[in-house]
Amino acid sequence: MAYNIGLLGLGTVGAGTVEILLTPEGRHPLLGDLNLYRVGVRDLHKSRAVKVPDGLLTTDLEAIVTDEAVDIVVELIGGLEPARSLILQAIAHGKHVVTANKAVISRYGDEIYDAANAAGVYVMLEAAVGGGIPVINPLKQALGVNRIQSVIGIINGTTNYILSRMEQEGSDFGDVLADAQSLGYAEADPTADVDGLDAADKIAILAALAFGGRVKREEVHCEGIRSISAADISYAEKLGFRIKLLAIAHREESSDATDRLQIRVHPTLVPHTHPLASVNGVFNAILVEGDPIGPVMFYGQGAGAGPTASAVTSDMINIAAILKTETEPIPHPLLSCTHQHYCTLT
Ligand code: NAP
Ligand code: HSE
Repeated sequence: MAYNIGLLGLGTVGAGTVEILLTPEGRHPLLGDLNLYRVGVRDLHKSRAVKVPDGLLTTDLEAIVTDEAVDIVVELIGGLEPARSLILQAIAHGKHVVTANKAVISRYGDEIYDAANAAGVYVMLEAAVGGGIPVINPLKQALGVNRIQSVIGIINGTTNYILSRMEQEGSDFGDVLADAQSLGYAEADPTADVDGLDAADKIAILAALAFGGRVKREEVHCEGIRSISAADISYAEKLGFRIKLLAIAHREESSDATDRLQIRVHPTLVPHTHPLASVNGVFNAILVEGDPIGPVMFYGQGAGAGPTASAVTSDMINIAAILKTETEPIPHPLLSCTHQHYCTLT
């Protein structure tokens, strides 16, 4: 069974995703069932990081999300509109949706999930938080039996990259922002990164999952890193701290069973001995405290083409697996291994 993919966007993450789809060898066997069918962009003549097969590129994104042949729409254009409308249109036309768009999900997640439930389709967003780190699905599933007390994370790769370079080189954030942009870490409008808005989008999503409630994005307290200077970082270092942009969601227990949530993003002095202090560069980490599991930490590259595309394609595989189990048994990755060296422990 093949599933046709309608990809919206061929920028940093879109190109990384195509790269995985077109080189399935040695990866998950279900990748063989994903057929790149159409790719929507703004500019047909732009040079691309990846070559897509002839005839796939189009500027008509509405045609993709309404095309009867498309099974899964993968939204990687970013921003609020037209991304939100295209996602809703895709759902209304019975498509499953994969998105990396935390801005849309943190603001319109309720509307999108209500529409998806009504239409009987899946919406997956593993890439929306933590780049390549699997954290959304574990929070929804494996950690779901725990009573979560807190989620604390470094969840913006651009600002962590900038703060790490400032610490190592003594430069100011403006000097290294351009590098974060050229590496594909920053948002199209990097204000979202440096002012903490992107991290606020992400912690709103994590908090909704971890604490099982509806979180109003506009109520998340948010401060960015613009006011942090190289001198601040150097003084903090002398006192035994690193300055990190933390996103924090914390349950405040109350005696009258009306627990409150605190959700906030701001630069924080993190002691050198804390596990989050040694998370540097584009790496992200999310520390979850739950009962009875205790602390669990997720760590990996939080932005960039390859890591983020890994999360995007994992969502496509998950949808394909669900659809496939309705019709035939799915192969286990280890059982479908065809090369001896993949299977031999050395
Ligand atoms: P990007 O490099 O700016 O790429 C955006 C792509 O979407 C481009 O191909 C652009 O077309 C296309 N596009 C944008 N608006 C469009 C419109 N109105 N009509 C048609 N095409 C349009 O963005 P990105 O970094 O790949 O990010 C994509 C999404 O992933 C965003 O939601 C972002 O927050 C999220 N994300 C990014 C990262 C990362 O590391 N970059 C990590 C996690 C999540 P043209 O190429 O023709 O201009
Ligand atoms: N701009 C985002 C970041 C991309 O730097 O973390 C990953 O979501």
